[in-house]
Amino acid sequence: MSDSSKKPNGGSTTGWGAPAPSDRNSLTIGPNGPVLLHDVHFLEQMAHFNREKVPERQPHAKGAGAFGVFETTEDVSAYTKAALFQKGRKTDMLARFSTVAGEAGSPDTWRDVRGFSLKFYTEEGNYDLVGNNTPIFFVRDPMKFPHFIRSQKRLPDSGLRDNHMQWDFWSSNPESAHQVTYLMGERGLPRTWRHMNGYGSHTFMWVNAAGEKFWVKYHFHTNQGMAFFTNDEAAAMAGSDSDFHRRDLFEAIERGEHPSWTLHVQIMPYAEAKTYRFNPFDLTKIWPHKDYPLIKVGKMTLNRNPENFFAEIEQAAFSPGNTVPGIGLSPDKMLLGRAFAYADAQRNRIGANFHQLPVNQPKVPVNSYLFDGQMAYHNSGNAPVYAPNSGGRAWSDETGAVDDSWEVDGDMVRSAYTLREDDDDFSQPGALVRDVFNDEQRAKLVEQVAGSLLGGVRSPVLERALEYWKSIDAEVGQRIEEKVRSGHAGQPAEGMGEA
Ligand code: HEM
Repeated sequence: MSDSSKKPNGGSTTGWGAPAPSDRNSLTIGPNGPVLLHDVHFLEQMAHFNREKVPERQPHAKGAGAFGVFETTEDVSAYTKAALFQKGRKTDMLARFSTVAGEAGSPDTWRDVRGFSLKFYTEEGNYDLVGNNTPIFFVRDPMKFPHFIRSQKRLPDSGLRDNHMQWDFWSSNPESAHQVTYLMGERGLPRTWRHMNGYGSHTFMWVNAAGEKFWVKYHFHTNQGMAFFTNDEAAAMAGSDSDFHRRDLFEAIERGEHPSWTLHVQIMPYAEAKTYRFNPFDLTKIWPHKDYPLIKVGKMTLNRNPENFFAEIEQAAFSPGNTVPGIGLSPDKMLLGRAFAYADAQRNRIGANFHQLPVNQPKVPVNSYLFDGQMAYHNSGNAPVYAPNSGGRAWSDETGAVDDSWEVDGDMVRSAYTLREDDDDFSQPGALVRDVFNDEQRAKLVEQVAGSLLGGVRSPVLERALEYWKSIDAEVGQRIEEKVRSGHAGQPAEGMGEA
């Protein structure tokens, strides 16, 4: 045999860079003999294989994404000094879309909220906006989040999804009504990721160059138009192509069809938050557009697929805590909880130095004093590893009032938010059902909810869930009850995890 036939295309190497002897045959004593322990190349392949998965995200495990650019087309400098939002600026970015409750291999078209994660590689560091395709959320205190996610996942004994468990959580937490109404409506089954909107959901802070502060909500409207699946289409797709959304995005970009979204924001003057008729930091509420109209900012376009899914999507690490100058958080307790949770999950999921991976690495120089740890690649050489230091390495030392801050006072308590005049759990979902949904959408909602309740929801959760819907809208609640009592909703039983 010639040398080249032994090494097709030049051959592979071992992890230490030496020519690998064979990727087809292990080393044995004679053709039928035992495998030898000193076949280090074989052992390296086996051992690395055993370590080639990282823990999946908990939650939002199933997803995919693409790279692109965000262009600020309007002048919003009156509201923020953030470099990426200055008119004419183009910023490289990454987007990842996902389902919430499903595991890494679960079907894309199961009914669920969709994640809408964005990472902007700005000249002031990475800015992450980790939102969803709905402008609100299920709960308003981060203490409830792990309980919520567990109730949407799997039973401890059978390992199955369970409508009873989902409705038990939702109906015991009436603040979920707004998000559940969205989920049970058509937004619970987007046709593709290209055909859904994205929202920052929380209220954030913007700060302009003069130091003036504003409260802001982000809306990314799809330029492809909103489109949805029916239950039957989604169920069929879950069976025939469980990766349909992942495939759709990848293939659209391969074809040169680059999906885009237009960013608008709602801006609330800083002082108005104190007296607005409901708590503007409550994540279960939207701000009516008539009070705070949409202001155009720019356009995001996805134009480049990942070359390596694991390196660029699975290892991508988004965090609502990653802000840049001109953008801050807000008193939303959920947002404050999230500011901790993500980077901690990523240290566990990918490793302490996840910031150093190419997909997460800022495009600007880093001088972080994050020292050593597993898989440390970038380092500060022999510069001092402490601050302050006399060795000339820069450190930071701001004191006094913080740019993106707000005032607080009071005793330390465990409590729900203070209620304002228009703070309640059911008005906004009621308005969604009565004023936004048309007759056909209301009929589908009734069938969807009744189908879900008929899918194994037992007393006393069933009665509580029916009351929940009557509180959202008396008539819709009545219609749901009638369908449930008659025992057929005309739809397959459904919950968050079933199409
Ligand atoms: C206190 C509430 C919440 C907590 C503690 C929490 C925690 C987490 C954690 C630990 C992850 C996995 C991160 C990773 O492994 O990289 C995650 C993923 C995610 N969460 Fe949350 N979450 C919360 C609420 C929300 C809300 C309100 C939204 C949307 C408005 C949201 C959207 C997402 C998205 C889109 C992802 C996927 C990120 C990606 O694409 O990598 N989460 N969440």
